[in-house]
Amino acid sequence: MPRLYMETFGCQMNVLDSELVLSQLRAHGYQQVNDRDEADVVLYNTCSVREHAEQKVWSRLGELRASKRGNPNLIIGVIGCMAEREGKSIFQRYPHVDILCGPGELDKLPSMVHNAVLTSSSIANRKSQIANRRQVALMGATTRRSSTLSAAEDHLELLDLSRSVSPGDDISQAYVRITRGCNKFCTYCVVPYTRGPEVHRPPQNIIDEVKMLTDHGAREVTLLGQTVNHYAYQHPDGHTTTFADLLYQVHQAIPHLPRLRFVTSFPRDFTNEALQAMRDCERICRYLHVPAQSASDRILKLMNRGYTSQAYRDFIDRAKDLMPDISIASDFIVGFPTETEEDHKSTLDLIRYCGFKNSFIFKYSPRPGTVAIDRFEDDVDEDTKRRRNNEMLAVQQQVSTEHNSRLIGQTVEVMVEGESKLISRQKRSNNVELGWDRTIAVAEIVQTQLVGRTRGDQVVCFDGDASLKGQILRVKITRAQNLTLFGQLTALAIAPPLAV
Ligand code: 5AD
Ligand code: SF4
Repeated sequence: MPRLYMETFGCQMNVLDSELVLSQLRAHGYQQVNDRDEADVVLYNTCSVREHAEQKVWSRLGELRASKRGNPNLIIGVIGCMAEREGKSIFQRYPHVDILCGPGELDKLPSMVHNAVLTSSSIANRKSQIANRRQVALMGATTRRSSTLSAAEDHLELLDLSRSVSPGDDISQAYVRITRGCNKFCTYCVVPYTRGPEVHRPPQNIIDEVKMLTDHGAREVTLLGQTVNHYAYQHPDGHTTTFADLLYQVHQAIPHLPRLRFVTSFPRDFTNEALQAMRDCERICRYLHVPAQSASDRILKLMNRGYTSQAYRDFIDRAKDLMPDISIASDFIVGFPTETEEDHKSTLDLIRYCGFKNSFIFKYSPRPGTVAIDRFEDDVDEDTKRRRNNEMLAVQQQVSTEHNSRLIGQTVEVMVEGESKLISRQKRSNNVELGWDRTIAVAEIVQTQLVGRTRGDQVVCFDGDASLKGQILRVKITRAQNLTLFGQLTALAIAPPLAV
């Protein structure tokens, strides 16, 4: 049984892709291992959004050069956005790579891995034939031509439909794709090129998948799309299922799912109907991740975001009017070309005005193939980017602390995700032996620190037993930091996990 090691970089979409690919490969007889040195096949599911994410993969590939020398039968695959973006140039830089597979071709990956493994054992170490085992599946530029599009869609749909749950899989929190690709073409972003055009999945397939996962123990399902709220499925008879329709339908069709979420939203596409669906459906979490990127109209225009700062504020007002308890997170790019102090200050004002739960702040990274790298010079120097980044973080921290402090004394609903890594690590370094560390005999059972999230996506830590993972509990908040709330368990299981 070939052993497979896989590492995933990047967004939730990649996490889901890896899960689907792993489940297919397991069905083909591959055994997943956690130690790269034990593997016969090493796969990296990669991200190209920022240069830093790509550098990590380059360095992993560099490390594998020696492993391949020691074991010429080792199969190395680069899959996901970086494979699509870099293409065959990866072979030139790292000739020991065997497989390249873009995110739009992942349905082909199991047979590609299989072919590479078979060829590898038959040609052994003959250098001249190494190229024979190379397997490549990339969309290339052709995918934006629609004649090939529908065929590609059907294949990819099969990958999502093939999803199965094996005993022992932890699916208490699960992702379900509703849309692939992106049509927005923000000038800084590689995603429309690596993931291709926007394609919406049929609503029935989505409902069936959410139901199957819930029947097998999922307590929280997150619907995924690059611009998730732009979902609109056109049926063969011409009628359209909108994002609001889909939310109502999923909510109604799966009454035993305690939590339904969705990410990532695009500000301009939010209809009142979709906000009303959130308000009306009690099990839809009142959480929005809706990146603003900047609050300067000039920069927003250069980014091709298609909205003004005021339109963004109006949207936030609309959401808060309908749902005063809504929790909102944003993304920002700091140091976009030509960004001035004034532009930057307007972004700080927006963070204060919207009172984001948190913001993901990224320094602008020019990406090959995008419009921005061709048209605009990366003229904000690194020191300025870093300073503005820190200023934004400081304002966001202040806002988050205020936001979180308001919860002190309240009882919130928390879904337990597991043990708090921070606390567990501290306990380990203090040489306390914990029950979950099976390699060590248990000297003393310590009350573990658990971590979970509220419906608004706030992180909550509290003492409790590790067996509570996956359950939805009531926790009284006693203390607040900018990123974390601390509390005490007040009641056991509002919704116990189902037996798989
Ligand atoms: N540089 C920096 N950040 C970027 N993002 C996307 N492309 C870039 C880039 N070239 C950020 C955006 C997006 C998030 C996923 O990554 O903020 O919302
Ligand atoms: Fe990239 Fe813009 Fe599409 Fe988001 S909406 S994936 S930032 S192009």
